Amino acid sequence: MSKLGIYIHWPYCISKCPYCDFNSHKLKIYDPNEWLSAYKNQIKYFKEYLTSQNFKNIKLSSIFFGGGTPSLMQPKLVEQILLFINRIFDFDKNIEITLESNPTNLELKKINDFKSAGVNRISLGVQGLNDNDLKFLGRLHNISDTLNIIDIMQKQISNISVDLIYALSCQNLETWNNELQAFLRRFSIKHLSAYQLTIEKGTKFNDLYNKGKLKTVSDSLYKRFYFSTKNILQEYNFDQYEISNFSKPRFLSIHNTIYWKSDNWVGIGPGAISRIWSKEKERIEFENFKKPETWLKNCLNEKINLRKISKIDFKIAEQEILMMGLRLNKGVDLNKIRNKNFLLNGKVLQLQEQGIIKINKNNLRIDENYFNIHDYIVRKIIDNY
Ligand SMILES: C[S@@+](CC[C@H](N)C(=O)[O-])C[C@H]1O[C@@H](n2cnc3c(N)ncnc32)[C@H](O)[C@@H]1O
Ligand code: SF4
Repeated sequence: MSKLGIYIHWPYCISKCPYCDFNSHKLKIYDPNEWLSAYKNQIKYFKEYLTSQNFKNIKLSSIFFGGGTPSLMQPKLVEQILLFINRIFDFDKNIEITLESNPTNLELKKINDFKSAGVNRISLGVQGLNDNDLKFLGRLHNISDTLNIIDIMQKQISNISVDLIYALSCQNLETWNNELQAFLRRFSIKHLSAYQLTIEKGTKFNDLYNKGKLKTVSDSLYKRFYFSTKNILQEYNFDQYEISNFSKPRFLSIHNTIYWKSDNWVGIGPGAISRIWSKEKERIEFENFKKPETWLKNCLNEKINLRKISKIDFKIAEQEILMMGLRLNKGVDLNKIRNKNFLLNGKVLQLQEQGIIKINKNNLRIDENYFNIHDYIVRKIIDNY
């Protein structure tokens, strides 16, 4: 049976990081009761929609509090949201309940309360492994505090995932390798996401980049960063299961896997997106208002308004299944794709002959040795779909 997850967006942060284009805004005073009502109304709305689409016996696999910085939420608010979801949805016995957190003392004090509220996985935004890189990324925490906080946090919650951003122009490959090894020796984290820095439109980094004041690494240096990071993580028993994601056995992110396998998810909160397979097997997209105040206003009454609800065109839906599925090492299940003509296209056949993509029965995947040029390969496949 396909899986179902709920994403809950909290849009506030202490300050805006220069590389970040997520829907995040500087924290301001808010009324937790208003937010709780709006979240509840939207959860109820989706429960009714799912029931109308015959999702009657489905068990919830995952809940993910993302942001912004949801660790700034009051634990009581997180608890009340989870209690409400639990009242109207059945939970899978292994449900994953993740909360994104920054590694500061502020969050450390709240971890036990989040845990009592039901959170069983923390996704920690470590981002850099030395003070210079953290400063480059505009982070507010320093490395020695971060390491001390993880020491304490991992005694309170066993399932910790860490986010890192690497391949920065200020980084030296050898130093990065040593820092990553020391980090992995010190902590028994279960999951790690290592992202290449991307320059996103509308960010401070994008302005600096356009003015020639920010450099990025060359493709060949990135390739060296990518494969040495992957090799080090593998030496420390992490399996790579997605281009940027590594886990200890059995600790794959259930939530993100729902996205990569194009299963069903419901997005609650400002700017969140939902994707649900309807009973007619059509992919339906729901888009929430992005601005926190607009979303709140539109979800405070029981009869809520969304920004947009649309049926995704068949071709786009299949391209999306390919795009997301090809991020996984195991690739994409071709049984999910009805129009397989693209496999006979000359350019796609050429990728296969070159050993860049592999097709085996009903599975299509990108060979791991070419993951550093993943975007280019996917584009070639999608353009010829
Ligand atoms: C919603 S954000 C993080 C949440 C949390 N507030 C934090 O800062 O740790 C999710 C992750 O995306 C990654 N990320 C965001 N912008 C990025 C960029 N421009 N390049 C690479 N990774 C990025 C970061 O690693 C970040 O932890
Ligand atoms: S990276 Fe995290 S803390 Fe920084 S602005 Fe984005 S969501 Fe907020």
